[in-house]
Amino acid sequence: MRNRRAALAATATAASLALALTACGQNSEGGSDDDKGGSDGATIGVAMPTKSSERWIADGANVVKELKGKGYETKLVYGEDDPDQQVSQIENMITQGVDALIVAAIDNKSLNNVMQQAKDADIPVISYDRLILGTENVDYYASFDNQKVGELQGGYIAEKLGLKDGKKGPFNIELFAGSNDDNNTRYFFNGAMSVLKPYMDKGQLVVRSKQTALNQVTTLRWDGGTAQKRMDDLLTSSYRSAKVDAVLSPYDGISIGILSSLKSDGYGSASKPMPIVTGQDAELASVKSIIAGEQTQTVYKDLRKLAKVASNMVEAALNDKKPEINDTKSYNNGTKVVPAYLLQPVSVDKSNYTTLIEDGTYSENDLK
Ligand code: GAL
Repeated sequence: MRNRRAALAATATAASLALALTACGQNSEGGSDDDKGGSDGATIGVAMPTKSSERWIADGANVVKELKGKGYETKLVYGEDDPDQQVSQIENMITQGVDALIVAAIDNKSLNNVMQQAKDADIPVISYDRLILGTENVDYYASFDNQKVGELQGGYIAEKLGLKDGKKGPFNIELFAGSNDDNNTRYFFNGAMSVLKPYMDKGQLVVRSKQTALNQVTTLRWDGGTAQKRMDDLLTSSYRSAKVDAVLSPYDGISIGILSSLKSDGYGSASKPMPIVTGQDAELASVKSIIAGEQTQTVYKDLRKLAKVASNMVEAALNDKKPEINDTKSYNNGTKVVPAYLLQPVSVDKSNYTTLIEDGTYSENDLK
């Protein structure tokens, strides 16, 4: 078993005892050698990025529930979107002797030193939803097909504007991306652009602001207020004599900011209808907004499944087993390709939001 107690048992002082116990068919912790796993009272540290978004609150609760169900103890911390705070939280958990870590990074490049500390303490690390970059000390990656998320957002815009036949347009679109310190950001953006760029090249889509490069359209820490401000600026600079027809938004919190800006500029009336606005995470405010005919689409990711995948990875890593992996090529973190299990995202709009009620994500009452 790969955990701190096992590591201690492997030290020279314990070696003879371990040998003796192994000889009688037991390992140094008193379990049988063919023990199929189990928690053995291990404690798992879970580092989540922020409580400012309901998805991460759900992630924390789901992961804890899964781990407790497997008999583990848990320590759950939130970094309040402050990379330094997250680093010290993880350092503290390592000092406190956690046996494994599940980490959803705030800044994917800020964790190299603390990941080395985890490695030195023989603590396996599961990168949760967001890939940790630049270190070999990440064992597995549990996430969604992030490129596909972007394809669903871009594909939705193309479909709703009827771009496929090559004749419709030109339509005006503005582009938003996520936080530049989150590895997912470029996957979402590149996925969306793989669909939208050919229509931009053909002139069916026009970005009046000319802000089309990823570094021009990112939104630090995925902040809705920052997105609202940028949308205000775009409307002022590029849309005084034209209307915006679509806005690529990578995340519901950003979409809500964009929608506030559009509403203050008079969008949402018969003469000035809301543009198509995409999103991600199926957060409650956004699903309600979709039902009310404001936000157009979101991309739903079943976080309960993600929590299961991550806790299965922990269990495998602590028991020297291989977890189920379905991707061994997409996620190079700059040091190695991190073996991943990627779940499938689903496009949700007004026509199919009831699937969220059917699968128990929300009750009918929640959505009233
Ligand atoms: C991303 C995540 C998205 C969204 C965003 C903002 O890393 O994949 O689903 O939650 O962060 O929180």
